[in-house]
Amino acid sequence: MNIRPARVSDVPGIHELVGVFAEKKLMIRRTMAELYESITEFCVAVDDDNHVVGCAALHVFWEDLSEIRCLAVAEQLQGIGLGRRLVDWCWDRARALEVKSVFALTNSVDFFSRCGYRVIEKSELPQGIWNECVRCPAFPECKETALIRVHEPEAILRAAGSRYAAAPV
Ligand SMILES: CC(C)(COP(=O)(O)OP(=O)(O)OC[C@H]1O[C@@H](n2cnc3c(N)ncnc32)[C@H](O)[C@@H]1OP(=O)(O)O)[C@@H](O)C(=O)NCCC(=O)NCCS
Repeated sequence: MNIRPARVSDVPGIHELVGVFAEKKLMIRRTMAELYESITEFCVAVDDDNHVVGCAALHVFWEDLSEIRCLAVAEQLQGIGLGRRLVDWCWDRARALEVKSVFALTNSVDFFSRCGYRVIEKSELPQGIWNECVRCPAFPECKETALIRVHEPEAILRAAGSRYAAAPV
């Protein structure tokens, strides 16, 4: 299974995959137009026939904040490490863009913890990130948890006064 940046020809496959989980109220549904417009944010996992079996997107909010969105792995291929590889792709992409942190809002807390993310209070995230929430099937009863991973050593973030630094131990 190959992980690579998404192409416009992947959009129908991403749309179908996200649709499966949107139907189960696990994800926000995306229109084809939205996917084309944000295709540069996406990576995909593809099988030997170049069929999309996984996807994830990195959305940048600010110089020190980005979000993993649209993370999904086809049900029959879950549990073999594809989700982690997609999350790691987003992390590497954030590093390449010099964005200092990546967060996720998710019900898959254990999965993200296994991928190196730590739980933070949702109130620690800036107001601007909540615009999409009105489209969530769970809105306004959000039960998702916020998790974050930061690039810079925590001490540097704390010294810089970043809100994303963990409290000193
Ligand atoms: C969440 C999801 C992307 C995980 O993908 P996956 O390919 O099954 O995950 P991986 O095989 O890469 O698992 C990585 C690690 O997380 C663990 N893990 C995966 N799903 C888990 C779960 N639900 N609970 C606990 N641990 C989990 C795995 O055991 C593995 O642990 P390891 O450190 O021992 O290797 C996938 O289950 C999915 O697509 N879910 C439906 C869509 C969804 O809910 N998306 C929203 C996510 S924000």
